[in-house]
Order: sequence, then structure tokens, then C-alpha cells
Amino acid sequence: MAPVPPRLEIIDLCCAFDGHQVVTDVSLSIAAGQVLCLLGPSGCGKSTTLRAIAGVETPVAGIIRIDGVEVCGPSGLTLPEQRGVGLIFQDFALFPHLSVADNVAFGLKGSRAQKRARARELLERVRLERYLDAYPHELSGGEQQRVALARAIAPKPRVMLMDEPFSGLDNRLRDGIRDETLALLKEEGTAVLLVTHEPEEAMRMADEIALMRDGHIVQRGAPYNVYNAPVDRAAAAFFSDINVIEGEVNGALTDTPFGQFLAPGQPDGTKVDIAIRPQHVRIDFDREGRGPHPTAQDGTPARAVVQRARFIGKESLVEFKLDANGATMMATVPSVFLPKPGTPLWLMIRRDRCFVFPRK
Ligand SMILES: Nc1ncnc2c1ncn2[C@@H]1O[C@H](COP(=O)(O)OP(=O)(O)OP(=O)(O)O)[C@@H](O)[C@H]1O
Ligand SMILES: [Mg+2]
Repeated sequence: MAPVPPRLEIIDLCCAFDGHQVVTDVSLSIAAGQVLCLLGPSGCGKSTTLRAIAGVETPVAGIIRIDGVEVCGPSGLTLPEQRGVGLIFQDFALFPHLSVADNVAFGLKGSRAQKRARARELLERVRLERYLDAYPHELSGGEQQRVALARAIAPKPRVMLMDEPFSGLDNRLRDGIRDETLALLKEEGTAVLLVTHEPEEAMRMADEIALMRDGHIVQRGAPYNVYNAPVDRAAAAFFSDINVIEGEVNGALTDTPFGQFLAPGQPDGTKVDIAIRPQHVRIDFDREGRGPHPTAQDGTPARAVVQRARFIGKESLVEFKLDANGATMMATVPSVFLPKPGTPLWLMIRRDRCFVFPRK
């Protein structure tokens, strides 16, 4: 039996505006029922990639296949409406002269009763069935966004492209609608390409994350891997605040106030950045000027003085100044931990949780 092609496959996609390339050699594939999150800072080319897949932007190079059939490539371009692709753009627009139900039913086939039944079913999913016969201008921005969501899902597209589709919803509503929408799309075997610039949203929703920067995919993988094995300092910093300790390699080791770090494969003299997320900085008490003993896992403790401490919901964020070099370090601690400014404490860096990158 021939292997099943991915639902959506993109090979070396390039897009440019006025000769300026904004998407470069982007390759992705998404299986039926899978969610891939395209994550990256503003202006990195996420929407442009989506628009090329939808067929509303013409790429300068690359191949796009849906269920193994080329819709963009050397053999030509398939019209957007013939691609079996659903879209929710950042600047979605409803038809102002159509009711909410008719907006949702717009792309559907079948009798009027069938279309209305499907529209009602989808509007129930986004909890707007009471607005079936209302007009878009009678709805809030977030409600309109949910209608756009229902409208995009209604025709059961094979591929769903979503550009920040949940951004206009308040937190509580967003979690519910987001989870339900994706569950529905998964059930129907839709391949979902979801654009977001929020790493937490991406980690929660994605089977796979593709991290995009300056038009390139710089890293792809399961959320756990992208978070715990970032390819570079910027990739690490995209997911959380990071502490960076600077060092220089000498005999595959780097000296820091926290003891030595391994820098395998880096030649002597290489400047490195050791990055560590604030939740992986361990804190211990000062015992009359002395700290805990060094361990293989945590290295040498370094003394630091609290600058300020804030409770930020589930955790506390404590900012320190290192005695050794005056550098600022941040640590997060679960729950409430609010030491007074000026308190001396000892910090340790978990060796299995830090990343050593050659400085760029
Ligand atoms: N129609 C256009 N004409 C010229 N330049 C464009 C056009 N659309 C986008 N660009 C440029 O292409 C680059 C990528 O834009 P794109 O909209 O894909 O970014 P994005 O990753 O979606 O950002 P955001 O998170 O802010 O939505 C930007 O520098 C943008 O200015
Ligand atoms: Mg965009």
C-alpha cells in the first residue's frame, strides 16, 4: 500500500514583496488531525506563509500539496476556493448584510434547512446560538471572531489555516472555545496550521511547533523539545525570560560565578552565553555568609542579594544582584516567596537545565 501523503505539505516556500524576500525556504508537513503552530515575532512572515497556502498570495518559489495533490508549484496554481482550505485571517470580516446564521452557512452546500442546521450546530459550539438571526454589527468584536471561527469550520475543510484566531477573546472564554474548536477539527481529520505569537498558546495547542524568525523556520519539534532544547539564545528567550551568564571557553570548560560549565566542541577563546530559565534557578538560604555545598547537579552556589520580589499569580519572581560581578539574575519560585530587598541568598544553576550557546 502506498504511504498516505500528509494532508498539507509545503516544500521550500519563498514569498517576496517588491523583490524583498519575507519567507525563505519554508518546509512543513501536517498530517490529518494534527495541529502545527507557527510561532514567531511580529513581522517574521507567519501571515504571508498562511496567505500563500490559502492561495491569496502567490509565492515566488516552492511547492504546496494538499493530500498529495499539488495546488501550487511548477504545474500551476489552484484557485483558493478549490483548495479545500478554511481560513481565519487576523483581519477576518463577516458579511455585514447577512445574518449570523447566513454568514456561517455561506460556503455550505445543501438545502436551506440543512445549511441552517449546520450553522446552528457550529454556533452552539462557539456558544452563540442565541444570535442566529442577529447581524454582525449587533455583536461585540470577540463574538464576531467566534462567528468567523464557526464559518470557517462549517464546510469541513481538509486544511484549516488560523491566524491568531483566539486573540480577541477574554481568557476564560478563550480556553474553552480554543480547546473545543481544535477538538472538533481533530475529530474531522483536519490539518490545522495555527499562527500565534504567544508561546504558551502554542505549547498548549500544538502537536508540533515551528519557530519562525526573519522568514525562516529556525526550529521544529514537539513543544517539550522546542522548550527544553532551543537551538539558540533567541529561541530560548522566545519562550520565557532567560538569565544569561557570559563566559569564555578554555579546555572545553567555561568558568562562571556558578562554577565550571561544559562547553563541548567549542574551541578555546570562544565566547559563550549560558542561558537558564528563571524557574531553573535554585535558591538556598545564607548561613552566616556561607551557602550550600556544591553538587554535581547544581554546581557551585553563588551569593546574591535580593533587589525586588513580586507575586505574579501562580509564582513569585525574585530579582537578584550577584555578589561576584553585579549581574542581574531572575528566579521564579512557586507560590508566595517575597524576601525583602537586601536579603542575601544563594543561587544555583541546574546543569541539566541550562543551555550553552556560542555568542553571535
Ligand atoms: N502586502 C504586503 N506588501 C508589502 N510588504 C508586506 C505585505 N504583507 C506583508 N509584508 C511584509 O512582510 C513581512 C512579513 O509580514 P507578515 O504579515 O507575514 O508577518 P507576521 O509574522 O504575520 O506578523 P504579525 O505577527 O505582526 O502578524 C513584514 O515585514 C511585512 O511588512
Ligand atoms: Mg500576521
